[in-house]
Amino acid sequence: MQSIQFSEYGKADTVRLVEADPARAGSGDVKVAIEAAPLNPSDFMLIDGRYPFRPPLPSPAGSEGVGRVVEVGAGVTSVKEGDRVLVLPSGQPGTWQQEIVVAERFVVRVGRDVDPVQLATVGINAATAVLLLRYGAPEPGSWVAQTAANSGLGAFVIALARRAGLRTLNIVRRPEVADALLDAGADEVVVSDDTFGAQVAEVLGDAEVSLVLDGVGGPVVAGLTPFLAREAHIVSFAALSGQPIAVPPMHLTFKNLHLHGFWLNNWLDSAPRAEIEELYGYVIDLIADGALSTPIEATYRLDEHAEAIAHARSTGRDGKIVFVTGPAVTR
Ligand SMILES: NC(=O)c1ccc[n+]([C@@H]2O[C@H](COP(=O)([O-])OP(=O)(O)OC[C@H]3O[C@@H](n4cnc5c(N)ncnc54)[C@H](OP(=O)(O)O)[C@@H]3O)[C@@H](O)[C@H]2O)c1
Repeated sequence: MQSIQFSEYGKADTVRLVEADPARAGSGDVKVAIEAAPLNPSDFMLIDGRYPFRPPLPSPAGSEGVGRVVEVGAGVTSVKEGDRVLVLPSGQPGTWQQEIVVAERFVVRVGRDVDPVQLATVGINAATAVLLLRYGAPEPGSWVAQTAANSGLGAFVIALARRAGLRTLNIVRRPEVADALLDAGADEVVVSDDTFGAQVAEVLGDAEVSLVLDGVGGPVVAGLTPFLAREAHIVSFAALSGQPIAVPPMHLTFKNLHLHGFWLNNWLDSAPRAEIEELYGYVIDLIADGALSTPIEATYRLDEHAEAIAHARSTGRDGKIVFVTGPAVTR
């Protein structure tokens, strides 16, 4: 079985394609033949040794994906052989392989016929977008601001916010991505440059922002706080800039702002199974109906891992990079 593995934390050049013995599905486990698995920023954080857990080395990589069940262990009831499933993030990576064995609770059955490449990022980004937009229960017409708005996650936020009647203020670091976001349903796009405050003031007028979704950290949220409503919610889910999120105490206290941290794995660990299945069922239906999609820049085979990783780690992409195990590779 082909398996992409790394053998040292902080050394991306130890990533290799190896032949590994396929594991058997033990009691309560499901074995999945992977069809598609994205390369996410969190995968690189894991390889770089900057993620909250460190599997023993050498370790397979890849935190989510989609595939077909090829074996079920004793006691498994929610899926059967032949079912297509999402593989959800857990403490055990391994979707950048031809096969993975996971506990039943980390798979969700896909009941619709959907392009596996479009399904590949549902497990993390689509679910995260749904959950982020629940903070503060914003009313239709409210403004939601997000950083790294041209990310895969950002695309889901824009589409889901629009469905809910929310208005999105999308913050990017490259002006050239604005038109694509506006075409995809973004209400406004601003660039995090020296004129950031003036741009925000112009697009908002007298309106205020109710919810901020931040994946970048650093000073950008501080630049937004003068435009936040009283009791607004700020959710930090990543720090792509490597800098901590900055929230001026003057606004945090006087406006009684609510600052949250979000990590999907925490939700998956604590949410009841019925709620997890309901959320994924909802987003899978939207993808199947074409109401939700994620931009894909390229797909690669597992044996093209070096090129795929370099591409995924580059800036200036117009979509996600996804490993596929079938023949259909697109560039
Ligand atoms: N906490 C959670 O549970 C959770 C769940 C899902 C995602 N996330 C996080 O959300 C972020 C987006 O994930 P994704 O899969 O949607 O990413 P993605 O599609 O791979 O896109 C990466 C995005 O990050 C931007 N970016 C990279 N470095 C940056 C920097 N230094 N300053 C500003 N922007 C920067 C890129 O902008 P350019 O196009 O300009 O390069 C691009 O918009 C990641 O950090 C991921 O780990 C967290």
